[in-house]
Amino acid sequence: MRIAMIGGGYVGLVSGACFAEFGVHVAIVETNPQRLHALRNGEIPIYEPGLDALVASNTQAGRLTFGDDIAHAVTGADAVFIAVGTPPRNGDGAADLQYVHAAARQIAHALTGYTVVVTKSTVPVGTSRRIAAIIRETRPDADFDVASNPEFLREGNAIGDFMRPDRVIIGLDQEKTRTDGRAEAVLRNVYNKISHTGATLLFTGIETAELTKYASNSFLAMKISFINEMADLCEKLGASVEDLADGMGLDRRIGREFLNPGPGYGGSCFPKDTLALSRIAQEAQSACRLVETTVLVNEARKAGIAGRIAALCGGSVSGKTIAVLGLTFKPETDDMRESPSLPVLHRLAEAGAVIRAYDPVAMNVARPLLPAGVIYCEDALSTAKNADALVVLTEWDEFRALVPAELAQRMKNGVVIDLRNIFDPAAIRTAGLRYDSVGRL
Ligand code: NAD
Ligand code: UDX
Repeated sequence: MRIAMIGGGYVGLVSGACFAEFGVHVAIVETNPQRLHALRNGEIPIYEPGLDALVASNTQAGRLTFGDDIAHAVTGADAVFIAVGTPPRNGDGAADLQYVHAAARQIAHALTGYTVVVTKSTVPVGTSRRIAAIIRETRPDADFDVASNPEFLREGNAIGDFMRPDRVIIGLDQEKTRTDGRAEAVLRNVYNKISHTGATLLFTGIETAELTKYASNSFLAMKISFINEMADLCEKLGASVEDLADGMGLDRRIGREFLNPGPGYGGSCFPKDTLALSRIAQEAQSACRLVETTVLVNEARKAGIAGRIAALCGGSVSGKTIAVLGLTFKPETDDMRESPSLPVLHRLAEAGAVIRAYDPVAMNVARPLLPAGVIYCEDALSTAKNADALVVLTEWDEFRALVPAELAQRMKNGVVIDLRNIFDPAAIRTAGLRYDSVGRL
């Protein structure tokens, strides 16, 4: 089996390395010269646990290669996966498909023999059929099928998610599949080893597969916004959101996962995919009002964090020192896309706070995106020095290990604002600090 992977970002690099680990020959095509240069020199341009070793061993074994020559990668491939970005289009939140369409045109020129062109990027319904039309216009002689195979991996846990997924969704042209089983056979072969891990391979129509990705992400985002609103209510009513989430989660129809309250969801997927699904529904003269509301609830949540910090600092952060732990949208990644830290730190800076910040892996990525005056610290403990407030924005394990008495020694009798509920309230208070967390007393 040979495949080409167009795009060597989070999804393309992880998927490519994992397919290679399962014995498939993978040629990753990456057009960003810095990323390609790094990959060719054995450097991994993103932080993802375990990815460096996986890439190194498969490169050495000759199953994983990197280049910018799409024709070279596509020639002789059984399947070509498109894993380029689909960021929100400026203005209306719809997915920007320029990279996908450009990739389709490049692939079309390079096709030789029967090939399945697979959309792995998250794309609006109709995109895979549009890719087919682009290829037919460019190369009327090409022998190919298109498929939609959305990716469900999470950053920080990407290799485990890819290798042992709950399910793999594969959308095919069902009409054609009745008489021509080649596309299904190729994709069953590519996913052969992964299906042996117990994952369900679910074959659907193309439109259903494309929509399933947006529906899944939006449902998870909705769960988070729901629990965030429940946390607010718990604070008002003296209830515990953690016990509430446990109580709800024990019902298997609900499930405990994605019921952790926090500063609002971020990342490269939930914010853009909820917006895109809202647009898809509007364009189809339908509506996803729950998803539209989820977007609004999350935006308000992120925007409200700086005010919460100011209220806990006596009404204003002007001249106060605020220590911030964690800059990324979740632990175990250096991805800063749509991180809650972005609006929080900008608002704190505008309000005159002195900001000290620490992140275990993302400080270099974060620096150009954050206010100029932020003081970057060497470790979590030193960040607390002279702080009026210490704010936990991301639940990295190393923050859980902080000793409250050591924090108290460095801070100015201030307040710990734990937006991920990682500390034991009693332990922080015993150390002489005030404590604020999400949805608990
Ligand atoms: P990314 O921006 O990290 O990577 C995309 C890469 O594609 C970039 O390195 C870019 O230089 C390269 N590229 C663009 N056009 C190219 C071309 N014509 N030829 C070769 N390379 C090209 O994006 P990502 O986070 O990997 O996301 C990719 C897609 O997967 C998006 O649609 C996203 O919604 C979806 N997705 C992302 C995640 C995630 O956790 N990041 C998870 C599931 C799905
Ligand atoms: C998400 C989807 O989980 C994944 O299936 C899809 O392929 C890509 O988008 P990712 O964005 O990498 O993955 O991380 P995820 O673990 O889903 O977290 C997203 C955001 O939600 C983070 O900001 C996280 O802190 C937040 N979150 C998650 C919560 O606030 N509470 C939770 O209970 C879970």
